[in-house]
Amino acid sequence: MINVGVIGVGAIGRDHVRRLTHVLAGVRVSAVTDVDLDRAGAVAGGVGAGVARTGAELIADPGVDAVVVTSWGATHAEYVLAAIAAGKPVFCEKPLAATSADCSAILDAEVGAGRRFVQVGFMRRYDPAYRSLRSTVAGGSLGAPLLMHAAHRNMSLPAHFTGDMLITDSAVHEFDLARWLFSDEIAAVTALTPRRNRRASDDFPDPLVLLVEMAGGILVDVEILANARFGYDIRGEVVCEDGTVALSESAGVVVKRSGSYAGPVPTDWRERFAEAFDAEFRSWLDTVAAGAQPTGPSAWDGYAAAVCTDAGLTALHSRARAEVTLRERPDLYKPA
Ligand SMILES: NC(=O)c1ccc[n+]([C@@H]2O[C@H](COP(=O)([O-])OP(=O)(O)OC[C@H]3O[C@@H](n4cnc5c(N)ncnc54)[C@H](O)[C@@H]3O)[C@@H](O)[C@H]2O)c1
Repeated sequence: MINVGVIGVGAIGRDHVRRLTHVLAGVRVSAVTDVDLDRAGAVAGGVGAGVARTGAELIADPGVDAVVVTSWGATHAEYVLAAIAAGKPVFCEKPLAATSADCSAILDAEVGAGRRFVQVGFMRRYDPAYRSLRSTVAGGSLGAPLLMHAAHRNMSLPAHFTGDMLITDSAVHEFDLARWLFSDEIAAVTALTPRRNRRASDDFPDPLVLLVEMAGGILVDVEILANARFGYDIRGEVVCEDGTVALSESAGVVVKRSGSYAGPVPTDWRERFAEAFDAEFRSWLDTVAAGAQPTGPSAWDGYAAAVCTDAGLTALHSRARAEVTLRERPDLYKPA
């Protein structure tokens, strides 16, 4: 039985506690913490876990074998570094850290320890549809990939969501996806702001279009739409020399009636990526159980996404093309 400690039990933290308790086998949540200790107590009480007063206390607890970090992004680096120092596997929701410098410090810590401890929560890599998209492109039957059209449409976003968060919280998934789909780094990002949605406030860039240039020349256009209203709609189509491959409409049923047909659209990320979240945790826990290094998105992937995010913000604020410059990739993160 793997004992997991969870730091930060807000929306996604609670969902992961549910997953670790009711969906996955061979694991239990043994400790929980949150700056809101009442919230931590309520969640811990529901699953028979203990409450730690701080993240540091939870990480040091000998009853915690592995750590899940689901607190606010700005707090991630501190906990990830502490878990590495304690020699414990750590699953960190995106972002790995709030700045690329902090991500870089995490790379240094793992390189210093001589092994990987960190998996970053880029769960789309575990989504069955994205996996087929990737294997179809990699299979080569469609010829070389040239372009990708992607869309990230939210029904609506909470009031605290800023324009910058369209890059740091939404587009960050698209950056990671593009790097993983094409096994290539991103070279530059340009941001375009079309006619503003009447539902968006004056300084909120909704919609936002990002042009993402891959180092090998593939161009990815990403539509970010904050107020789609009809549902949570994630789209992706790769255009290759001899054909295209796209995510299909949601996997549910289609109803034909009175001369039209219709199917369900997910309402949010929890629903759309439920299977992917389960699979990413299954994969992470398998490596924890085996005492092996994680095989999922690494600290390098978290770092690269952070540098792309910085470029995206520069592009949005300057309206100029922003180049992505990564540090040299340490051997620890080079493909075997
Ligand atoms: N993979 C995804 O698609 C996905 C989806 C949602 C959220 N996230 C990420 O998960 C993280 C949490 O997001 P959320 O939506 O659950 O936010 P949230 O605000 O609902 O929950 C965060 C929780 O962390 C607690 N917290 C904040 N600072 C803390 C600290 N220093 N120590 C302990 N607890 C602390 C808060 O009190 C709160 O309960 C964010 O980094 C977010 O980007 C990822």
